[in-house]
Amino acid sequence: MRITILTLFPDMFPAILNDSIIKRAKESNIIEFEIINFRDFSGNKHNTVDDTPYGGGAGMLLQVEPIYKALMSVSGHESALKILLSPQGKQYNQTIVKELIEYNHIILICGHYEGFDERVRDYVDMEISIGDYVLTGGEIAALAVIDSVVRLLPGALGSKSSYLHDSFYEDSLDYPQYTKPREFDGKKVPDVLLSGNHKEIAKWREEMKLKRTEERRPDLLDKNE
Ligand code: ADE
Repeated sequence: MRITILTLFPDMFPAILNDSIIKRAKESNIIEFEIINFRDFSGNKHNTVDDTPYGGGAGMLLQVEPIYKALMSVSGHESALKILLSPQGKQYNQTIVKELIEYNHIILICGHYEGFDERVRDYVDMEISIGDYVLTGGEIAALAVIDSVVRLLPGALGSKSSYLHDSFYEDSLDYPQYTKPREFDGKKVPDVLLSGNHKEIAKWREEMKLKRTEERRPDLLDKNE
């Protein structure tokens, strides 16, 4: 997969993209990144890309032209899925992650400042919000999208099936897990997990998944009905 990021703050990305699973996926050619600064498409000598809103009001808006030009400069932009990150977008979830991994090329457009010219929306296929709160820009949202997509790309996680019991993978939360020691600060690992009885362990895990989901996210179970 290829992911192109359009941003005013390219320096926000390297720490996350050059570490851990994403770094490994890059080294294995599972994913390829390209970061484009739309300030490079400002078209004026001060390199500005924002201006005051028509009709008045506080703050500055990102202009449509530099974003459009940056988008047009991306090779293969016609067939890429173009996503705008914004608090007004569709709420991001694991179902959307599973849709995104089907694309060969995704372009992520990060808004910033107080907003952007409404006409930017005419050039995108999808608008995504990562939650009902406002970030200073779309960069952190873009990184959340990237991280969640990359880990589902075939071969990205060491163990092939380790995402299968993820929270949300089948619209339920994950079961509780334990590792050594058997007892810590008086708290013991449930006996069933030490029993070696795989059938009983699987049954316990299914029950715990359901219990957890009922307790914490009953809305997910409603969705499955
Ligand atoms: N930009 C600012 N806030 C955002 C959010 N919640 N999701 C996506 N992009 C954003």
